[in-house]
Amino acid sequence: MDAIQIYGGNCLHGQVRIQGSKNAVLPILSAALLIDGVCEIENCPVISDVYHMLRLMESLCCKVERNGHTVRVDASGVSRCDMPSDSVSVMRSSIMLLGSLLARTGSVSMQYPGGCVIGKRPIDLHLEGLRKMGVVIREREDGFDAETKGLTGAVHRLPFISVGATENLVLAAVLAKGETVIENAAREPEIVALCDFLQKAGADIEGVGTKRLHIRGVEKLHEISYRVPADRIVAGTYLAACLCCGGEIFLKDAPCVQMKAVSAAAASMGAEIEEHEEGLSVVCKERRVMPPGLITECYPGFPTDLQSAFLAAMSLADGEGVLEETIFENRFRIVPQLQQMGAKISCQDSRVYVSGVKTLHGAILKAEELRGGAALVLAGCAAEGKSIIKNRHFIERGYEDICLDMRALGADAALL
Ligand code: EPZ
Repeated sequence: MDAIQIYGGNCLHGQVRIQGSKNAVLPILSAALLIDGVCEIENCPVISDVYHMLRLMESLCCKVERNGHTVRVDASGVSRCDMPSDSVSVMRSSIMLLGSLLARTGSVSMQYPGGCVIGKRPIDLHLEGLRKMGVVIREREDGFDAETKGLTGAVHRLPFISVGATENLVLAAVLAKGETVIENAAREPEIVALCDFLQKAGADIEGVGTKRLHIRGVEKLHEISYRVPADRIVAGTYLAACLCCGGEIFLKDAPCVQMKAVSAAAASMGAEIEEHEEGLSVVCKERRVMPPGLITECYPGFPTDLQSAFLAAMSLADGEGVLEETIFENRFRIVPQLQQMGAKISCQDSRVYVSGVKTLHGAILKAEELRGGAALVLAGCAAEGKSIIKNRHFIERGYEDICLDMRALGADAALL
């Protein structure tokens, strides 16, 4: 069955190793297409989004070999491509291949990567920026044909921060003729990892980690091996699990420096957080209290991808709390499901209002998207009694094995 069964109420104790970052490896796999040769990518998470990305790359005449957490990509045979629509519809991150494929082949046909339940997810900034770099884009009913006689550098002033648009423009710029500047670039750690990969392969990028990226196009990139950094959102998910269930856990390999806003939010709820060389320790002995006014923001602010997990934790904290979502327009999908478990929670516009309760009770729940589904697992582990979470496949898009990880921390969670 495509579900998870949980018997809740256990305090968490133990250690879990944090997997490689989904949102870092997807643009890095796209960057491998820029290299006329072989790349070896280590610590690649075994998740369905990566599986679909690798299948898509094979359909573009890439040779792909996977051996556990190491993926070997040979992009020397990349040719003109029509991206298979079934793969694009399965995974909207396929849009991340656009910049690289235009740089390598000069021509891409693809359907629009649909929105998802959390928002419309338009790609106007991606297309606008590529047009400025010499790409002719003919939009069709359900997609577009993009052609270029050769990418040229341009100055981009993004009207608002977009992780994906920043990534696509970086990927298009590194082999373009001339210089590219991206003002108001996103600064997420996943973009730093992408730029690090590209610099190691010979790209000329300045301003990494800042809002202004300056890229000088080079002739060619060379083969490299690269280790994907740990996933700050997966680490933050298990940190929130401790907030929900109480206990004392250690998140091995957690990227502490990238989690400052998340750790600060947890500490404001009463958790004791300690940063170590090899990971992050989290102790939640007393009942949690509400965080003062949590707002999701672009990095280095509190990440939207942990909003649902912290909503689950706030449902069980003492007092009244408010959380505001500023990145996506429809990311409160778990509110009705937390209400079904007994949470006193309601949303209005971009805000959720929570009045903490002593306990939640188990229920039959349905994951509707990746991070909301993971948050329901946390709520189920904290609730009294049994919970079933259907549509487990959403969670498997970004978590290697959330049941195994939560069991390692002492929760009673199993695949159904
Ligand atoms: C990336 O999505 C992540 N996905 C998301 O993680 C993350 O939530 C998001 O960045 C914000 O941090 C990956 O990296 C694969 P955006 P992305 O472009 O690039 C609007 C997860 O759970 N926008 O920064 O799509 C957009 O609709 C996922 O792992 C436009 O209007 O996010 C959104 O409201 C969920 N036009 C806002 O900007 C555009 O051309 C931010 O989107 C592009 C974006």
